[in-house]
Amino acid sequence: MATEKLMRGRFDSGTNATVEAFSASEHFDRRLAHYDIAGSTAHARMLNAIGVINDTDCEAIIGGLEAITLEINEDRFEWRSQLEDVHMNIEARLTELVGEPGKKLHTARSRNDQVATDLRLFVRDAIDQLCTDITALQGALLTQAESEATSIMPGMTHMQAAQPVTCGHHLLAWNAMLERDWQRLGDCRRRVNVSPLGSAALAGTSFPIDRQMSAQALGFDSVSTNSLDSVSDRDFVIEFCSGCALLGVHLSRIAEELVLWASQSCRFVDLGDAFCTGSSIMPQKKNPDVAELVRGKSGRAIGNLVSLLVLMKGQPLAYNRDNQEDKEPLFDSVDTAHACLQVLVAMVPNMKFDRERMRKAAQRGHTTATDLADYLVCRGMAFRDAHEAVGKAVRLAEACQLELPDLSLEQLRNICEHIDSDVFDVLTLEGSVESRNHTGGTAPRQVREAVAAARQALAVH
Ligand code: ARG
Repeated sequence: MATEKLMRGRFDSGTNATVEAFSASEHFDRRLAHYDIAGSTAHARMLNAIGVINDTDCEAIIGGLEAITLEINEDRFEWRSQLEDVHMNIEARLTELVGEPGKKLHTARSRNDQVATDLRLFVRDAIDQLCTDITALQGALLTQAESEATSIMPGMTHMQAAQPVTCGHHLLAWNAMLERDWQRLGDCRRRVNVSPLGSAALAGTSFPIDRQMSAQALGFDSVSTNSLDSVSDRDFVIEFCSGCALLGVHLSRIAEELVLWASQSCRFVDLGDAFCTGSSIMPQKKNPDVAELVRGKSGRAIGNLVSLLVLMKGQPLAYNRDNQEDKEPLFDSVDTAHACLQVLVAMVPNMKFDRERMRKAAQRGHTTATDLADYLVCRGMAFRDAHEAVGKAVRLAEACQLELPDLSLEQLRNICEHIDSDVFDVLTLEGSVESRNHTGGTAPRQVREAVAAARQALAVH
């Protein structure tokens, strides 16, 4: 059955073949099939409850939709691009299977509220999936953070060695980003989970529909409050894709650090042979392609968000066909985020940190200079003066090609008489990290406490 048989009563001719191919979405929106069937089932039961279709018709429709579900699951469903989209494909097949009752399903409904419903159900599931993925990655990071609670590495600002930090603390920073991503998707879910069904084409319907009933059947928290807005609103897709874009940005930052840490100049981490690739020409290479791809794929997530924003900008109320263009960016954002998270979940437990190399790197670049300044402040010096004095000490160390803690007591006392032999306690890497022992600080004790707190947060995810 072609589209003209379904909804071209007012036309003299069929659709131009090029137009048909141009406007068809069935090849990608078939991904919404199960949501479409769920929406149709809820709608049919509601029509039955308000007396618009009788029990026999309702059972025929639901039986037919079940048969279609099976056909789709078993890959027997014959998708037809002449039928435009997932909605018309399913409705046409339903009528083929059950006859007259199939033609009654679309009473009090439009594809406009139908597609909005399908899409909300899809995004809701996508959020649940990605939240599970994020939680799994967080779990893997927390395990590593706990094992590396006392390992010391250089903490960077401006990509310059700044102060020593514990590796566990750094991994917990990644966890904090992911925790916000998880929360952001959860916030978005509340606005996604509202039923547009019943808004019909744009103005509602003349039938005495029970919107609460279909909404409840589909697990929505509430029903939307304006039919014009409901069929045209794609904020929820944009919000969700924005959450994916920000997640992508975070994953790209994590990936970039992994690339750096795995490089010859750092060699802080071994990503595991199974997660690296060789070179076609250089036999010695072990490349961090997984991390690089995760870094690269964030571009898609950002691009998809921008596509959707531009798609919606300037659209008048209510539904416009432009909206059909929302699906591919949305699907790609979900698939990209899911794939990146999955591969990181597999890779993170295999990462092996080289504690010795990280420690050695932290010893370069006078990373305990701030500790020396703090020490002087404790001995009565104003911080600005202490900063100045330590600056001189760093200059002296550089001139002697030494690191700050390698200067002798005498050399240090020449710069500032307040210094005693206990200064060497604060100049060590361990002294430095252990002294930052407050909420959010890098001390091993804080790392262990933060891991425990983060685990508690994960337990209620
Ligand atoms: N395939 C369409 C979409 O994705 C479904 C809604 C079509 N509605 C319409 N009035 N042409 O948006």
